[in-house]
Amino acid sequence: MTEAELYMVYKGVFIPKLYQRLESLKYYEEFTFRPDDILIVTYPKSGTTWMQEIVPVIQSEGDFTPIDTIPNWDRVPWLENAGSRANILKLEQRPSPRIFATHFHYNMMPESYFKVKPRVLYVFRNPKDVFTSSYHFHGMVSYLVNPGTVDEFLQKFIDGKIMFGSWFDHAKGWISAKESDTICYMFYEDMIRDLQGSISKLASFLGKTLSQDIVAKIADRCVFKNMKQNKMSNYSMVPTNFFDQQKSEFLRKGTSGDWVNMMSPAQSDHFDAAYKEKMINTNFKFHWDSFCQVHAQ
Ligand code: A3P
Repeated sequence: MTEAELYMVYKGVFIPKLYQRLESLKYYEEFTFRPDDILIVTYPKSGTTWMQEIVPVIQSEGDFTPIDTIPNWDRVPWLENAGSRANILKLEQRPSPRIFATHFHYNMMPESYFKVKPRVLYVFRNPKDVFTSSYHFHGMVSYLVNPGTVDEFLQKFIDGKIMFGSWFDHAKGWISAKESDTICYMFYEDMIRDLQGSISKLASFLGKTLSQDIVAKIADRCVFKNMKQNKMSNYSMVPTNFFDQQKSEFLRKGTSGDWVNMMSPAQSDHFDAAYKEKMINTNFKFHWDSFCQVHAQ
């Protein structure tokens, strides 16, 4: 099926019609944040599900009940998907601090966000790995347009013609946010390299004092191979007509640098040129390795 059939354009970006219905978007536009809300913000395929695993168990100080008993999409709901489900999820009545997720760009956020300034955990991931993960994801999800060839999907990714638009605009919008003291920037690559350190950084931002023993237990539970076994988080409960995990698992590889297995040197060069052009005048220090110099072996 085509973009016109599967997506709508909302605030300038493609949004899958099946997931983000108009009533959900209206609900989000009118949503009232609380100052102690915690908002996980990501461009899709940057580690959202991982954060939906880690943050609740930081909040519960190492009690794993939330991740053992509640599916990730109810545990940390996406505000853009809430809509009529908000009643079922009882978002308004949830005790503080509530934890939500969103894929919205900075300039798409509702009015209440800018007034209340809740805490934001923004996760970056090397965009070449985001591209690679997204390619596989688009191939297994029924409500997204089939990715086509790697070349075709690469051009769509660069042009922002996929769900939630341009990675470049998403990143630039959120790094230029003025309320930087309420935003904690996280890096997927740091989480891979040093999960315990990343958990401690998150806990400290969220005002939680966790012993090293608890941090180690959370890291062990949330490391890829263990999290992959969690039925509440591996999307195995989603019917195969939505997510066909025979084609590609949702928790697929969980590594950094997998793009070298997908992109040719020419595709990598094309990506680098687009990156340089689109991210010009961006002074933010990203933590991934200087991928511009790296090519597939
Ligand atoms: P891959 O497709 O590269 O494996 P999102 O949740 O934002 O959709 O991101 C999904 C990506 O995060 C997938 O990447 C998935 O495997 C990865 N991921 C999820 N949990 C992870 C974990 N515990 N450790 C490492 N990567 C994880």
